[in-house]
Amino acid sequence: MKVSAVPLALTALCISACTANIGGERPDTETETPPTTPPPTTPPPTGGPVDGAAVYAAECAVCHGPEGRGSGTNPSLRAESEFGMRHANLSAFPRLVRYNDASMPFGRPTACVGTRVGSCGFEVSRYIYETFLGQTVDEAAVTDENGDLMDLPEVKPPCVDQYAARQIKLLARHEVKATLESLLGVTVDVAGLPSDFTLAGFTTQVNGVATQPHVQAYFELSQRVAVDVRNAAFGGIADLSAACAAGTGAMAQCQTELLDGLGRRLFRRALTAEERADYAELLPLSDNDTNIALELTLSSLINAPVF
Ligand code: HEC
Repeated sequence: MKVSAVPLALTALCISACTANIGGERPDTETETPPTTPPPTTPPPTGGPVDGAAVYAAECAVCHGPEGRGSGTNPSLRAESEFGMRHANLSAFPRLVRYNDASMPFGRPTACVGTRVGSCGFEVSRYIYETFLGQTVDEAAVTDENGDLMDLPEVKPPCVDQYAARQIKLLARHEVKATLESLLGVTVDVAGLPSDFTLAGFTTQVNGVATQPHVQAYFELSQRVAVDVRNAAFGGIADLSAACAAGTGAMAQCQTELLDGLGRRLFRRALTAEERADYAELLPLSDNDTNIALELTLSSLINAPVF
């Protein structure tokens, strides 16, 4: 399997910044740049069937481009887009309708809804499907006698988490070191992390000013530690995960044990079902000879904002 370093790094960053969005390499959507809010547009006509092309031009083109090629952090909606494989799986029309109905336009999802023929959600999806993907919607196959979409799949909505201002890490430098070393059985070098402060006699990160190099340092530390643990054949975490220490072949089991053992300790709570599902999406990145998924799981747990 050929995986270049950059997408891996981005994947790990995405996981840390917003676990709702694991699984694709969409750079930057979770960073400071929010998608541009479109100017107010004329609402789609009510009553008769909606004109998908007109809705697209009015509500969607501002972000996804007139030809659906995307712009900035707004993904392409064309077949060649890798994004289509994640949320919407654009090749499956019901999923596309469902996604658009529930999630688009981004930030104002109620501006275009509906899963029935003639509704905004259905018709704008039909427009994308036919114009950008060159497919034909087989209405008889996907809708019932009322024109309602028969199959209403659950489609994961986009990540819209907003975090208030806070320090980037909760733990002081020596705490990061002590925690990771005791859990992982490797030596952890915390050089480059923001300096600790002494406040009312306590050593703390509160009030610390975190700059880009610090963010980078946390990220690099998470990568380094993950590689060290992997190079040590997961021996240092045998108490947390017997399957990891036993070697390859039990990838999924190993990851589950990592999430239950290490994840729960680092996050100081159990991982949510959604977080677990997101991590599970990493598993296919590993093949028989590699355990990239485990390394990424480790590094993103360590780099997660909640640790
Ligand atoms: C304000 C900018 C904006 C507008 C307007 C907008 N989108 Fe999006 N759209 C996004 C962003 C950002 C994403 C990626 C969301 C994510 O996954 O976090 C996205 C994702 C999508 C996806 C999923 C792509 C994929 O493969 O995962 C579809 C389909 C989509 N938009 C359709 C539409 C339609 C239809 C409209 C108009 C009704 C619309 N969008 C309006 C910003 C926008």
